[in-house]
Amino acid sequence: MKKTLNYIRKIYNDSDGFIPLHAPVFLGNEKKYLNECIDSTFVSSVGKFVNQFEQMTSEYVGSKYAIAAANGTAALQIALILAGVKNGDEVVTQALTFVATANAIKHSQANPIFVDVDRDTLGMSPERLKDWLQENAVINSKGEAINKTSKKKISAIVPMHTFGLPCRINEIVDIANEYRIPVVEDSAESLGSFVNAKHTGTFGLLGVFSYNGNKTITTGGGGMIVTDNEELAKRAKHITTTAKIPHPFEYDHDEIGYNYRLTNLAAAMGVAQMENLNQIIENKRKTASLYINYFVETANHFFQEQNGSKSNYWLNSISFSEPSQRDDFLKFSNDNGIMTRPIWKLMNKLEMFKKCQCGDLSNSEWLEARVVNLPSSYNKFL
Ligand SMILES: Cc1ncc(COP(=O)(O)O)c(C=O)c1O
Repeated sequence: MKKTLNYIRKIYNDSDGFIPLHAPVFLGNEKKYLNECIDSTFVSSVGKFVNQFEQMTSEYVGSKYAIAAANGTAALQIALILAGVKNGDEVVTQALTFVATANAIKHSQANPIFVDVDRDTLGMSPERLKDWLQENAVINSKGEAINKTSKKKISAIVPMHTFGLPCRINEIVDIANEYRIPVVEDSAESLGSFVNAKHTGTFGLLGVFSYNGNKTITTGGGGMIVTDNEELAKRAKHITTTAKIPHPFEYDHDEIGYNYRLTNLAAAMGVAQMENLNQIIENKRKTASLYINYFVETANHFFQEQNGSKSNYWLNSISFSEPSQRDDFLKFSNDNGIMTRPIWKLMNKLEMFKKCQCGDLSNSEWLEARVVNLPSSYNKFL
């Protein structure tokens, strides 16, 4: 354990200070653009930076459209609504995810169903998804997938690219197509991660990103919806901006909308951060390769990108063969000024999701007890 902590200190060139899990980094024009917002008085949700941030994002990820939102959770809620999720429907996601995925499903008035993840990608397992659908779903006369037990419509599938490691998204989309269920990718953690040179978040009908303070790039708080579908993109902008019908001065709204537009202040940060995204990802990938070199000689498993996929290595992670070793490491590292964190408690174990239907979760359970995130910030010494 001590050897690992010494190695982390060596990577971050810090022999005795506190090493955080993931600190934001500001390398360029953040202050300049924020000052521009203040000087221009455009600090709220109208302003040139919001449009610019959207354009930079759609160019970077290769989607036709990008619509900025207040945060990733709100972006996911709206993406689900746009995918057709209605009150009382069901949405299949993975049990091993950050709580925001399941919360957004609830915010869209649907109930989550939890399936297992892969032991290597940490993302939704296509086999387990298929097993669950084969056992539980039927297609009705309208071509909708219906849960045999609850009789509810299964209206979306939400895979998540855990810690930036791409999941097996092509296989998941193929299975979803068989059942005519739209895929909404929770790519909150995977800006800068690709599968066969195609950006995560662009495989399904819609994808979402988060710019929370702990993410690869941050706007303080913020989110983005991406899609190639023009109609959905227009609706995304419309319902995130109170569903106001454009008019030079009159107030008219054609449905219950949301006040979910990103502010110009946040987008100004986003534009500055996007300008350095490639450098940030390159740096994070160097840190990951240092971890890989080290852990290959140890009993720990380091989670690496799979063949054909490229990870942003947002959070580097390892597993221990025994849960007790993991617990000892968490205590020792945090007691010694090195911030490490366990992977999340499974969603079906949280009080509010205890009654949700689940598939076989044996991989999720194995990982839940063994995975730890290591310090992964941008490293100015590389
Ligand atoms: C997997 C996942 N989904 C959704 C979110 C929600 O994003 P936000 O915090 O911007 O609401 C996050 C991050 O916080 C996340 O990690």
